[in-house]
Amino acid sequence: MAAVVLIGAQWGDEGKGKITDFLAEKANMIIRTSGGNNAGHTVVVNGKEFKLHLIPSGILYPDKTCVIANGVVIDPAVLIQELNYLKERGVETSKLLISSNAHVIMPYHCLLDGLEENARGDGKIGTTKRGIGPAYMDKTARNGIRMIDLVDPEEFALKLRSNLDQKNAIITKVYGAEALKFEEIHKEYSEYADKLREYVTDSSLAIDQTIKAGNKVLFEGAQGTLLDLDHGTYPYVTSSSPIAGGACIGAGVGPTQIDRVVAVIKAYTTRVGEGPFPTELSDETGARIQKNGFEFGTTTGRARRCGWFDAVIARYAVRINGISDFAVTKLDVLTGLDTVKICIGYTTQGQRVDEFPQGQKTLKQCVPIYEEMPGWQEDITKIEKFEDLPRNARNYILRLEELTGVKATIVAVGPGREQTIVRGEIY
Ligand code: GDP
Ligand code: IMO
Ligand code: MG
Repeated sequence: MAAVVLIGAQWGDEGKGKITDFLAEKANMIIRTSGGNNAGHTVVVNGKEFKLHLIPSGILYPDKTCVIANGVVIDPAVLIQELNYLKERGVETSKLLISSNAHVIMPYHCLLDGLEENARGDGKIGTTKRGIGPAYMDKTARNGIRMIDLVDPEEFALKLRSNLDQKNAIITKVYGAEALKFEEIHKEYSEYADKLREYVTDSSLAIDQTIKAGNKVLFEGAQGTLLDLDHGTYPYVTSSSPIAGGACIGAGVGPTQIDRVVAVIKAYTTRVGEGPFPTELSDETGARIQKNGFEFGTTTGRARRCGWFDAVIARYAVRINGISDFAVTKLDVLTGLDTVKICIGYTTQGQRVDEFPQGQKTLKQCVPIYEEMPGWQEDITKIEKFEDLPRNARNYILRLEELTGVKATIVAVGPGREQTIVRGEIY
């Protein structure tokens, strides 16, 4: 029996899709527990690239049950599009389950996401404008429409009416924008309901039954630790709980069921959207990492900001998530550099800082303290064993382990499923 939670240790886009796909081979069930289609997870199998936003990356194996659990916010149009995209590419999707408690992203959520961002002006968060924040706001305000409501025509009409009255008042009176029309949304969403009804179920129960039967389950995180609503770089965060603890809430399983927490972490750091980023590189090296790592958003196409590996962030992620293993990705992207740097601490106002600071004002003032290590020039993208990596690449990984106290059980050297070095059992 093993339940493994997989999360992102940085600001998202660590390669969770790739590592989920890799670990899914041994699992029976793969479960998305938070976020929505702000996520973009890329999986490459036999040279074929798949981009997923809502459906767990385990879907590429025909025999796995995939679950979109209660903690996810679902844009039904995007989900249907994704189902079609997979079907067109010959992927079996009949084993998908959708939680009846998952909340639905409505057109007013997307509209308000944009209007709220514009109103923030210079203080904008840089959201994906997918309606994520407003949908979670409705959830916590207890106004949300859940999947169970969407597929119940009577409930849906009632809830849409009351929500739309309130939202149209805000849209027109606060933002001076045009009101949305009940009939249009009702018709469109009733069609989505008809397409999705067959998948909607009590997913917490299905997960429990799978675990109790002695099967392996894998919880696929979205976003990353520093985008967590409570523990991330607030307010430059998303509106859900991407940390490991969020998986329990987002799936309806108890913490005692979780055996391991695998954190995906890039061999360097990236960030999309606004907010302080101490190790950000605005020079040629940053541009080189961005180019070689193809650091452009899967969801919005925005260029990802790039910088050196930050061990302060990694240690913080270890604490907040209770990480048992690291899966270090994109080591190959650092190939060809004369030296590589690791941030081991910060200084701010003449003081040394070893713990990730609370508050963006302090984080913005933090200057990294770097350790510099010799780089490696050899192509590592076909290497299968850790021992076969160039010595300097091995030393880099060993140093990351030393600085964080956590083993890099997996090391990825390319986007493909096979470009994955394993140094121990996950389950
Ligand atoms: P996620 O959101 O955490 O799933 O990550 P994304 O899919 O948004 O971004 C990671 C990108 O890096 C994807 O394009 C992956 O195919 C790619 N990738 C993952 N692991 C590696 C690796 O080890 N090396 C290289 N070169 N690319 C990788
Ligand atoms: P995956 O799962 C990277 C960022 C956005 C923005 C902030 C808030 O692919 O790692 P939101 O639309 O969620 O309200 O935006 O969070 N963000 C991500 N950045 N990867 C993601 O997902 C992200 N999901 C949200 O860029 O800064
Ligand atoms: Mg991504």
